[in-house]
Amino acid sequence: MDINQKKKAAAEAALAYVKPGMIVGVGTGSTVNFFIEALAAARVQVDGYVASSIATEQRLRSQGLNVLDLNQTGDIPIYVDGADEIDIYFRMIKGGGAALTREKIVASAARQFVCIVDDSKEVNMLGKFPLPVEVLPFARSFVARQLVKLGGNPTLRQGVSTDNGNVILDVVGLDFTNPVELEREINNIPGVLDNGVFAKRRADVLLVGGNDGVQTHKP
Ligand code: A5P
Repeated sequence: MDINQKKKAAAEAALAYVKPGMIVGVGTGSTVNFFIEALAAARVQVDGYVASSIATEQRLRSQGLNVLDLNQTGDIPIYVDGADEIDIYFRMIKGGGAALTREKIVASAARQFVCIVDDSKEVNMLGKFPLPVEVLPFARSFVARQLVKLGGNPTLRQGVSTDNGNVILDVVGLDFTNPVELEREINNIPGVLDNGVFAKRRADVLLVGGNDGVQTHKP
């Protein structure tokens, strides 16, 4: 099975969590794009979708799916999104597509986070994937220096401006022994909007596409 078939299988398995009358949070990325295709084909009578990025919003609308403003929605029973890495405690690195801040907001507003990945994303220890950090352009150099003090080696992602008008620093070399603390420490640097460690808001359900089909994991 190739990687796209694995992503598609995981994305289609997430449809089982989408029930009529719900508001569904929708993440960003190539795995989520398969989920959006599956949603468009299934036409479950949901109340609407909350998008985690402009790209996802446009994709949902192009399929004729109803997009709601987060500020005008109440309960979001589920949020479906991919990840760049996920460990056995369902902690993740996200933001490979630069959408991490809105993703964390919608994920945090939702009751259940359903993570859809191919099996290459499963890791024993987070941190091989460079950690994306969204930073106000004004604070770019200052934040980079603080990240170096934390042991990291940041690189500016060239040519990228986030949906919020900010820049992304991709950081390697950080110590992921305590991801909750690392997430908090980076977010305490003035000028950081958010970072791609999802340790405080972890996934609740993990659907992994692999050669033997989709495995469902719960804590
Ligand atoms: C977007 O900013 C990311 O958090 C994505 O969720 C993550 O990069 C997974 O993307 P793919 O499904 O394309 O691998």
